[in-house]
Amino acid sequence: MDQPPIVVGISGASGAALARRCVEQLAARGRGALVVCTAAGALVWQHELGEPFKRWVAKAPCRSFSINDIAAPIASGTFPTGGMVVVPCSMDTLAAIAHGLSSNLLERAADVTIKESRPLVVVPRETPLSVIHLKNLLTLAKLGVKVVPPMPHFYARPERVDEVIEHVVGRILVALGVDAALPVEMQYREGVPLP
Ligand SMILES: Cc1cc2nc3c(=O)[nH]c(=O)nc-3n(C[C@H](O)[C@H](O)[C@H](O)COP(=O)(O)O)c2cc1C
Repeated sequence: MDQPPIVVGISGASGAALARRCVEQLAARGRGALVVCTAAGALVWQHELGEPFKRWVAKAPCRSFSINDIAAPIASGTFPTGGMVVVPCSMDTLAAIAHGLSSNLLERAADVTIKESRPLVVVPRETPLSVIHLKNLLTLAKLGVKVVPPMPHFYARPERVDEVIEHVVGRILVALGVDAALPVEMQYREGVPLP
């Protein structure tokens, strides 16, 4: 039986490449990705990846919805999904989700994911984090939301940004429950020297 699709919310924090790889990896696993991107998310996408978000999403292995399309299926709890990831998650969108706002489709889809007790993963990117940011993250963590900051895996001595992206996306897929564990080559094993 087909597994339900995953909602991928893209907001205006740095890290558009993480969202792009997440969609690619979901497609590689035969999991549909339902994408919704904020206006700031599209702006940062163009800045960081040098391609308009709209052009990418038109040919990407996913279905996408306009941020203002509050009547989209993912706005309703009756539409089955396997959960949602907000990647990258801006402090603005984080605050909105933590306070139950639903002023755009991304926020509404996150609110639905929480109320339906489905897996929700946020990938917050900001530094340094203020007390406001930390409080909002704590609010979500207490609700069972997985907080997966895009932290480099320094212990494996990554040499390229691509390696860091791959690792972070691997952790996201595990947090969502899409993958049971990280790919073997990314796992720490006792007695095996790290690369
Ligand atoms: C190039 C660029 C990078 C940004 N990086 C971040 C970031 O890492 N974290 C963050 O919280 N906001 C960041 N911002 C600011 C957000 O885009 C801004 O707060 C916006 O209102 C977020 O809106 P959204 O949550 O609807 O996407 C960045 C903005 C730009 C233009």
